[in-house]
Amino acid sequence: MTTQANSHGFVTRGIHWLSAGLIGFGYFKGLDNVGQLADPTLFMTEIVFALSIGALFLFRLFWTKRVVGATRLPEDAPKWEHWASQAVHVGLYASVFGIVLSGLGIALVYATPWLGGFVMGAMIGLHELTLAAMPLLLIAHIAGAMWHKIVRRDGVLESMTGRLPV
Ligand code: HEM
Repeated sequence: MTTQANSHGFVTRGIHWLSAGLIGFGYFKGLDNVGQLADPTLFMTEIVFALSIGALFLFRLFWTKRVVGATRLPEDAPKWEHWASQAVHVGLYASVFGIVLSGLGIALVYATPWLGGFVMGAMIGLHELTLAAMPLLLIAHIAGAMWHKIVRRDGVLESMTGRLPV
């Protein structure tokens, strides 16, 4: 009999689905070019949005690592599953922080032109790289959740969703 995963708590689940919504919203409303930052309202909105996501993920990191524990993958799951899940979670955190920090960097260089075109180019490059990596990591993350639901049937997906009707 496969060992069943314990459930994540209410706070972890709440943060998980709130951050999923915010990430989706971020892709939906994202800017097309740096010139749009000339609009002061848009400039301020982008900064507040980036700081909010950054703060939420920092709190989430603290909460799962220091308070309630991160993964609910059963300890006796195969080694490769522990390794793969850890790698994708680290990648997701790295891409979120990469997107947030490079976005704030773009805003800083835009408001401080003497920092120069090289720094702006580096920030935009990092922003595009991390923005491109996140959907690939999310595909791997969701594929992993489906693997646990359909093949392993060990309750790892349900640890984040609650019991599903099917
Ligand atoms: C349909 C979409 C999603 C599904 C089905 C899903 C499913 C899950 C499940 C089942 C876990 C628990 C894994 C475990 O305990 O080891 C988890 C954790 C996690 N998920 Fe998702 N997820 C989704 C979207 C997202 C999105 C958009 C992000 C944004 C970056 C994300 C980031 C994370 C992270 C970092 C963890 C590790 C635990 C934590 O720090 O909260 N997930 N997810």
